[in-house]
Amino acid sequence: MPNPKSAVVEDEISRDRLAELLNDDLAREYQAIIGYVVYSQVLSGAQYMDIANQLEIHAKQELDHALIISRQIDYLGKMPAVVPKSVRTSEDPKEMLRFDLENENETIRNYRDRIRQCEALGEYAMAEQIRQILMQEQDHQIDLATALGIEVPDVSGGPKGRTLGKRR
Ligand SMILES: [Fe+2]
Ligand SMILES: [Fe+2]
Repeated sequence: MPNPKSAVVEDEISRDRLAELLNDDLAREYQAIIGYVVYSQVLSGAQYMDIANQLEIHAKQELDHALIISRQIDYLGKMPAVVPKSVRTSEDPKEMLRFDLENENETIRNYRDRIRQCEALGEYAMAEQIRQILMQEQDHQIDLATALGIEVPDVSGGPKGRTLGKRR
């Protein structure tokens, strides 16, 4: 196992920093669970029936993600966070779906970073677990974009231009 205290050069992420970032990911997973639990039940109208059913499936997958991420944080010797990122609500179904989509975009950006960071630390198994989660998040993104009748957003670049391990 790599020693985090030795030779922390610039641009190299530490295991402590990775645990912190994973706790942010966990807070986003909690947010997603809550969002999907609520939205799947309040979305009404015949045109939203399919997506409401899909959101119920998302809710359960997000719980699986939260469990996987917590396990990684514990493995890194840190305590998993208990506070979700805030959940936005709206009376307007389209707006609800847009909030979900924005959250998924943010989640995808972060997991792409996290995979690179895990690999930089030699944590290949962790990177693989996150890759599995990322695949489901991309499915969520597609489900939401499809329900909104829009193109799947390209989040490969984005404002958080990727410099490995830099604090933001
Ligand atoms: Fe998730
Ligand atoms: Fe998701």
